[in-house]
Amino acid sequence: MNLTLDVWRQKNRNTEGRFETYQLSGISPDMSFLEMFDVLNGQLIDAGKEPVTFDHDCREGICGSCAMYINGRPHGPKQVTTCQLHMRSFSDGDTIVVEPWRAAAFPVLKDLAVDRTAFDRIISAGGYVSVNTGNAQDANSLPIPKDHADDAFMAAACIGCGACVAACKNASAMLFTSAKIAQLSLLPQGQVERRVRAEKMVAQMDEEGFGACTNTGACSAECPKGISMTNIARMNREYYGASLSSTNA
Ligand code: SF4
Ligand code: FES
Repeated sequence: MNLTLDVWRQKNRNTEGRFETYQLSGISPDMSFLEMFDVLNGQLIDAGKEPVTFDHDCREGICGSCAMYINGRPHGPKQVTTCQLHMRSFSDGDTIVVEPWRAAAFPVLKDLAVDRTAFDRIISAGGYVSVNTGNAQDANSLPIPKDHADDAFMAAACIGCGACVAACKNASAMLFTSAKIAQLSLLPQGQVERRVRAEKMVAQMDEEGFGACTNTGACSAECPKGISMTNIARMNREYYGASLSSTNA
């Protein structure tokens, strides 16, 4: 395949960025999108130019680091992570536009790499459980209803990639935060901090500068793990439940 790439280049968060255009030839349709970027970077290094900075780690769709906004959509045209996107999803002769996530809470570090530590701080605010250490618990000593286990498992599939924020016109982090809250609120291990978890994590989310949810559903539509908006409804119930119990305390 022969391709034209328009790629966002930016030295750091304090400098202005711009698109640069690159020509690539001989790209296999079976390459992943990141492998295609490896070819581009090899070409740039050979020409004595600076390669494009982008985040990646597992290249298996599980770490959530491969953030790229491709042709106006987070992770491109399929509902998968960028590392799981293949060049056969494009046509020979295409022009592909690649940008970083756009959100005030995700400032650009360099080129396509953004700072997503805001998500880490939301988790630090309440996305943990208190457990007694010691011997492992006997199997089946903590019965969990099947529908709770299923819903918790679905919420736990969130990989913290940030595509939901990038897709949202308000740059809201409600889908991410709600998946983390819902997962813990459904399991017995999550009950110790349950009453304060939603309040703390929502407060941190607001402090980081993420926007509000206006229920457009773009987050869930673009989420590579199919995280459902029902988690947002659950988070709201957890939040109001916590507010009521602190009012009554
Ligand atoms: S909810 Fe989906 S899009 Fe958002 S961070 Fe989790 S996996 Fe990524
Ligand atoms: S590199 Fe880990 S999800 Fe893409």
